Amino acid sequence: MGDQRLAGKVALVSGGSNGIGAAVVRRLAAEGAHVGVADVDPQRGEAVVQEVVSAGGSARFLQLDVTQVVQWKAAVQEMVATYNRLDTLVNNAGVYARTPIESIDEEEWARVIDVNIKGVFLGAQAAIPEMRRTGGGSIINISSTAGAARIDRDALWRLERGGPTDEQIDSGTVREGWHPLQLCPPRANRYGHGACCGA
Ligand SMILES: NC(=O)c1ccc[n+]([C@@H]2O[C@H](COP(=O)([O-])OP(=O)(O)OC[C@H]3O[C@@H](n4cnc5c(N)ncnc54)[C@H](O)[C@@H]3O)[C@@H](O)[C@H]2O)c1
Repeated sequence: MGDQRLAGKVALVSGGSNGIGAAVVRRLAAEGAHVGVADVDPQRGEAVVQEVVSAGGSARFLQLDVTQVVQWKAAVQEMVATYNRLDTLVNNAGVYARTPIESIDEEEWARVIDVNIKGVFLGAQAAIPEMRRTGGGSIINISSTAGAARIDRDALWRLERGGPTDEQIDSGTVREGWHPLQLCPPRANRYGHGACCGA
């Protein structure tokens, strides 16, 4: 286990069943947080929960399609009913569109925009009232340096990854004392695209 810097905190991670989201779940739990693994993939999600619990952490699986407002409300309410608060939301769930711009049809456009942008918006909308109720919280939106890059191949992915940044989500909340924190953009803006975290 980690340093338990998040002991007693409550976090919800969308897309927590696989990849980056699962890694975030493991880390938050290792630091002592109660973590909701919220995903459309219950099989992998339950496996992540078991892994966390076996390591001495606290996690539960929540069935969540981030495009569905009712499911967002239910997931947040389940965390609050269980732990009486929600301190952190990690909007991580995402789907990747590899299709070149001239081949993207409306169905693919809608699917990617719904998951990767609407899903982020609905997550913030569901979480903010509970965070406000307990005096504050953190919303972390996983995007990509691709969102700050030139657009040629993977055009839709690059276009929508520019969407869930702090500027968009901040509007209307920052005046109440919410603080934007950009984790990576200086290098993203400077170099256009490529890895931005690390050395
Ligand atoms: N992996 C990379 O190199 C990379 C690079 C830049 C940005 N990102 C971003 O990081 C995030 C995670 O990427 P990843 O590589 O770990 O992806 P992944 O495919 O490994 O995991 C994505 C998770 O989201 C879940 N998901 C998909 N649609 C969902 C929905 N409608 N509702 C709820 N959950 C849903 C999937 O079941 C899965 O568990 C994404 O937002 C992605 O855009 C990833």
